[in-house]
Amino acid sequence: MGEHDTRTPRHRVEICMGSSCFLKGSYQVLDAFQELCRRHALQETVAIAGAFCKEHCRDGVSVEIDGQLFSVPDAEAAHALFTAHFLRGPETSS
Ligand code: FES
Repeated sequence: MGEHDTRTPRHRVEICMGSSCFLKGSYQVLDAFQELCRRHALQETVAIAGAFCKEHCRDGVSVEIDGQLFSVPDAEAAHALFTAHFLRGPETSS
């Protein structure tokens, strides 16, 4: 009922922009996810958004994918996480 948006992304990625995660590089993680989405034409499948503190500030940058929380230490780990979730196979780098 009331489905007026036919392009609702199926997956939601929230990247913590709280001060602790920000200092650990949340923007690099955000950039990595956005770049991967573009590269694999997943912009309409995966919605990426910034988020407030997820209250898991001790480890890496907090990233929530479809309600599941992950700790991402750097952009390289962001690539691995994205690949595991949305590409399901080793990424081919050219
Ligand atoms: S600042 Fe990111 S989890 Fe707290």
